[in-house]
Amino acid sequence: MPNNSRMRDNAGKEKEKPIGIFDSGIGGLTVLHAIGQLLPKEELVYLGDTARVPYGTKSAETVIRYSMENSRFLLSKGVKAIVVACNSASATSILELRKRFPDIPFIGVIEAGVEEAMQVTKSGNVGVIGTSATIESGRYKKLLLEKGAKSVVGSACPLFVPLAEEGWIDNSIAEDTAKIYLKPFGGGVVDTLILGCTHYPLLQKTIAKVCGDRVSLVNSAEAVAKKLKNLLESENLLNEKGNGRRKYFVTDSPIRAEKVGSRFLGENIAPSLELAELD
Ligand code: DGL
Repeated sequence: MPNNSRMRDNAGKEKEKPIGIFDSGIGGLTVLHAIGQLLPKEELVYLGDTARVPYGTKSAETVIRYSMENSRFLLSKGVKAIVVACNSASATSILELRKRFPDIPFIGVIEAGVEEAMQVTKSGNVGVIGTSATIESGRYKKLLLEKGAKSVVGSACPLFVPLAEEGWIDNSIAEDTAKIYLKPFGGGVVDTLILGCTHYPLLQKTIAKVCGDRVSLVNSAEAVAKKLKNLLESENLLNEKGNGRRKYFVTDSPIRAEKVGSRFLGENIAPSLELAELD
């Protein structure tokens, strides 16, 4: 085979490889959903570390170790890029992952959310909500200030995670919880609020209702999907002819994952769901 046609052949094979996505649990399916909407032909391999969720309450060292193991698992599935769907993992581990696996592009929800927020904000006063690990890492704040934000207000909203898992996303308890958590962002303090956790897009309606019209919400799941598309285009890795197959792996028994996962994704994931054995 002449060299250039072999190159074309290899380029085609690279494009056909799946995209890996990992999260601490099932919440990252909001990111998979956004990616699937924007890139319907791409094959997606999802890993939810359901045996060790939550990451949001763990130390950075522990989350980095988990993120390394998750990435190794996805690499064993032959992925061409890895999306770190978990904000807590993105906040603590993305730089380490890029150092450890320099040949594979890693796309993190945080960088994507920051870029989107800076396009949306008019005042430059941006808010961010996330898990304790995410807010304490200071990663959103650092990146937002580097990109020119005037002020950044961050607040951890840990109860939003179990509310979303339970499906209590628009009842009075969700609304009362949101009213307490979102107080620091009221009165025009920010004009843009980043939903810096995989679970929060499920509560988006309630959060929007409490924040009112003057605050624009940035859904990092959609932002990361756009960033991934740009990256695949620029690296000539976009798969435009694939069948959009999905494969879901979890590290704990798939039974609970089936129920919660189907709620997050709005479709039954059971037929493509398997237990993952991490090294
Ligand atoms: N996936 C996590 C995040 O986006 C939320 C759940 C957890 O604490 O692990 O930060």
